[in-house]
Amino acid sequence: MHFRSTLALASLLQSVTPVISLQDSKFKPGLSQYVNPFIGSEGPDGTGFGGGDIFVGGARPFGVAKVGIDSTAANWSTAVLNGGWTPDGNVTGFSMMHESGTGGAPKYGLIAQMPLASLEDVNVLDNMTYSQPRIGKDIASVGYYKTRLKSGVEVELSASRHAGIMEYSFPKGEKHILFDLSHYLPASPGDTGGQLFAGGEIQIQEDDQSYSGYGTYVGGWNNGSLSAWLKSYICAPFTVYFYGEFNQRPQQAQTFSGPNTDPMPRYQNLANGGISEPEFGNQTDKVTSGPMNNRIGVLLSWNDGPASHITSRVGISSMSIDRARSYVKKEIPSWKLNDTVNDAVDEWNQDVFNKIQIPIDGSANMTHVRLLYSSLYFMHLMPSDRTGEHPLWDSDEPYWDDFYTMWILLGDIFRCTVSFYHIFQPKYYESMIRSLIDIWKHAGFMPDGRSGNWNGLVQGGSDADNVLADAYVKGLRGGINWTEGYAAMVKDAEVTPYNTFDPTDFTASTKEGRGALDDWKELGYVSYDRNTRCISRTVEYSLNDFAVAQVAKGESPADVEKYLNRSTGWQNIWDEKVQSLGFEGFLAPRLADGRFNSSFDPLLCGGCEWKDVSYEGIPWDCSVMLMRVAEYSFVIPHDVKTLVKLMGGDETFEKRLDMMFKPNTSVQDLGANGAGITTLINIGNEPDFATPYLYNYINKQAKSVMQSRSLANQYFKDAAYGIPGNSDAGAMNSWLLWQMLGIYPIVTQPVYLLSSPWFPDLNMTINGDKTLRIKATGLDEGYFVQGVQINGKSWTKNWFEHEDVMVNGGTIEFQLGKEATEWETGEVPPSPGHMQLSK
Ligand SMILES: *[C@@H]1O[C@H](CO)[C@@H](O)[C@H](O)[C@H]1NC(C)=O
Ligand SMILES: *[C@@H]1O[C@H](CO)[C@@H](O)[C@H](O)[C@H]1NC(C)=O
Ligand SMILES: *[C@@H]1O[C@H](CO)[C@@H](O)[C@H](O)[C@H]1NC(C)=O
Ligand SMILES: *[C@@H]1O[C@H](CO)[C@@H](O)[C@H](O)[C@H]1NC(C)=O
Ligand SMILES: *[C@@H]1O[C@H](CO)[C@@H](O)[C@H](O)[C@H]1NC(C)=O
Ligand SMILES: *[C@@H]1O[C@H](CO)[C@@H](O)[C@H](O)[C@H]1NC(C)=O
Ligand SMILES: *[C@@H]1O[C@H](CO)[C@@H](O)[C@H](O)[C@H]1NC(C)=O
Ligand SMILES: *[C@@H]1O[C@H](CO)[C@@H](O)[C@H](O)[C@H]1NC(C)=O
Ligand SMILES: *[C@@H]1O[C@H](CO)[C@@H](O)[C@H](O)[C@H]1NC(C)=O
Ligand SMILES: *[C@@H]1O[C@H](CO)[C@@H](O)[C@H](O)[C@H]1NC(C)=O
Ligand SMILES: *[C@@H]1O[C@H](CO)[C@@H](O)[C@H](O)[C@H]1NC(C)=O
Ligand SMILES: *[C@@H]1O[C@H](CO)[C@@H](O)[C@H](O)[C@H]1NC(C)=O
Repeated sequence: MHFRSTLALASLLQSVTPVISLQDSKFKPGLSQYVNPFIGSEGPDGTGFGGGDIFVGGARPFGVAKVGIDSTAANWSTAVLNGGWTPDGNVTGFSMMHESGTGGAPKYGLIAQMPLASLEDVNVLDNMTYSQPRIGKDIASVGYYKTRLKSGVEVELSASRHAGIMEYSFPKGEKHILFDLSHYLPASPGDTGGQLFAGGEIQIQEDDQSYSGYGTYVGGWNNGSLSAWLKSYICAPFTVYFYGEFNQRPQQAQTFSGPNTDPMPRYQNLANGGISEPEFGNQTDKVTSGPMNNRIGVLLSWNDGPASHITSRVGISSMSIDRARSYVKKEIPSWKLNDTVNDAVDEWNQDVFNKIQIPIDGSANMTHVRLLYSSLYFMHLMPSDRTGEHPLWDSDEPYWDDFYTMWILLGDIFRCTVSFYHIFQPKYYESMIRSLIDIWKHAGFMPDGRSGNWNGLVQGGSDADNVLADAYVKGLRGGINWTEGYAAMVKDAEVTPYNTFDPTDFTASTKEGRGALDDWKELGYVSYDRNTRCISRTVEYSLNDFAVAQVAKGESPADVEKYLNRSTGWQNIWDEKVQSLGFEGFLAPRLADGRFNSSFDPLLCGGCEWKDVSYEGIPWDCSVMLMRVAEYSFVIPHDVKTLVKLMGGDETFEKRLDMMFKPNTSVQDLGANGAGITTLINIGNEPDFATPYLYNYINKQAKSVMQSRSLANQYFKDAAYGIPGNSDAGAMNSWLLWQMLGIYPIVTQPVYLLSSPWFPDLNMTINGDKTLRIKATGLDEGYFVQGVQINGKSWTKNWFEHEDVMVNGGTIEFQLGKEATEWETGEVPPSPGHMQLSK
């Protein structure tokens, strides 16, 4: 242990590290001042429940470190600790890693410090004995967060890409900082998807002013379920190395350890004995978890004297302590918190916000301005750029983690987010795609989701295929090896992944690939009796195979026909006999022997969970989605033409779309996913993202504008309850962003639909150094489109192609007005996968 109580106060004060200041630049917030970092932090009732699950704290665009608080749950049955921050929870620590906007069991909340103003009644192993309510309102801006604890300690923090800086303002009296390596964001009791601490080591340096080591953790949302084979909770461990230091020498630095009482069969700690007392090590400056996986930590104590500041800098790495230390030294050279805040603000402005310019003058609607820049902010928190930080294999390729998920990224993220990265962040985007391919190369499959260096979970199809196809058809080449990219997609299309026996779905892998490929290859659809989630998977696999065909056109032309054929699979589960709400013909569960299940109600989806007929979407949606692609997965945008036909032609298609927006038609209670929405369309759910825009496919663009605008106005606010459900790593925010631009991207095609922009003039830097300008006149009169010019030419189609304005830049001009006008006379948007199966 490390025990230096003999140090005199005088020498303590002398040991204060001198302030290394960057240039004492005046703080220039620039466009970052319009970001409201709390949008999505609350649900309708002011707690986190039903909110966006977002991270609030210090971060950089796609940074590894996301520094912020971890909190307790006021009520476990409604708790959402996913982003660490909750409106009503008590603080248990200030930790280095977070996700943003995710659902399921929380992941991360690791490498935490907790300031304590007293040790009375504190058991350092028992977070409930030291957790602290917050006083007053938290303050946050881009790269900055401040909170005040009941104990009187005020904490301000910021982050670099791999490190964080915390400034603690202690009141008069005792000053301690607790570092509990076994701290993580917990899941609710009984949730088996939670995290666990699997051991580590801490060393206190000679001068007591710094500590370093590593911790290993398992579980958290995507743990897969090799666990079921191993009969233990050990799977997908990931290790975080850390280095933390203080600007002043503590009077005392004690290591401690104690039995790990969180249940881990492998470590024999299933004794239900309650939390034990720590043992403080007094002879050594090093502590390890050892064979019994003990919990370990350090307690640092400063003088019991006048109020003072203590500042800490902490670096993290997946590779080594040396790297963790070098990140601190390189990325946060100053002990002045605001130097890092300024640095963060500069980086966000340059990398993100400055790339969109709008008039911000007396006439601007500031709510719209804030929604725009806040949406950009939330889209850049995840995934995490871990390039140079890959612990599992040697590779010169970039590495990204926290794709949470493609369904999100693609499915979630993939619908709206990646198409935005494509034009807005081409360098990062190319890097992400290279990383997806490198993961396939070394781990066997591209991820559908990935976090903590572990693939999983798969929600429907293999949606990385859609991401790759979207990039490919829009011409992204750069350093991407498309021979390998195509091979990675073919693997998804042809090789059934090993079953992971995930208790949430025992039937097939939830880790990667397409678990129902057996049905898909044999029957051309996913059957109801041999597989789960038959409808959503059929829909998703169809788009996935269309995506494969899109890349095959350039990389392997002989395969095109095969995959195009397979992309029609969704038609195999179209049952024209199913009736609902006065319409005929829906997607329906089909048995492997070819029969449809006639007792099926398209308005229900069971629990809408893993084992149900469709995932996070109701079949009615799903059928409509099909047309428009997405209900369940963004899947059918490739053949809206056939969908319209199966639904009964343009007029019926329109009526069926109208029905989606009719209040009080939803009979399925979607719980927290439903955001109190009573229409069939649930904009809080990614499969529905494209639905409001589908009217473009029957040249009724005015209705797309009306439906999408009314959803945006109703559900997206510059407020804590500002998005309808989980932000899903920014997917929700990207939907709004496209809506504000007046454009909607059709994933896997170089095609964008036109809607109606929110700003009179907007310049966006795209493709590195080109400018896309979007102008609108008549905004004061209304939002209906009266006419459009692209690059000065009058435009009669309600869509355009990537090369029209997204490659070399260009101008889109809208004339808006009060009247819904059928201004478009040109062809409807394409259905490049069009092929109707004869029945
Ligand atoms: C508090 O710590 C215990 C013991 O490690 C852990 O099981 C629990 O989840 C923690 N609670 C919170 C809210 O972090
Ligand atoms: C926070 O701590 C206070 C006592 O300090 C307690 O009354 C309250 O229930 C706690 N709240 C949560 C959400 O843990
Ligand atoms: C926790 O939330 C659930 C669901 O809203 C509610 O039924 C229950 O009464 C709450 N428990 C407490 C102690 O407030
Ligand atoms: C994670 O592993 C645990 C233990 O086997 C299991 O109960 C849980 O369902 C798994 N979660 C997921 C999402 O696979
Ligand atoms: C270590 O130091 C603590 C705090 O001073 C003391 O309470 C404890 O008894 C000591 N433990 C050992 C094993 O000497
Ligand atoms: C640091 O920056 C924050 C956020 O911009 C500001 O509120 C605070 O006053 C600054 N502190 C100092 C010491 O400049
Ligand atoms: C957009 O760019 C054009 C051409 O450079 C410029 O005239 C216009 O003022 C810019 N608009 C905004 C909002 O920055
Ligand atoms: C700004 O936009 C919001 C949301 O669209 C709207 O409610 C508000 O009335 C607008 N404010 C002004 C001044 O036009
Ligand atoms: C692309 O990958 C293939 C297969 O690994 C390899 O043979 C080829 O040399 C690579 N192409 C380039 C340009 O690196
Ligand atoms: C594609 O489908 C057509 C029509 O059913 C069939 O004639 C053709 O052989 C199929 N092609 C491939 C490569 O499977
Ligand atoms: C048809 O669906 C109903 C209800 O969804 C179910 O109870 C029944 O077992 C299914 N029939 C077959 C043959 O699978
Ligand atoms: C929807 O149902 C609720 C509750 O029954 C009712 O208050 C509301 O008026 C209905 N809305 C419409 C548009 O019918």
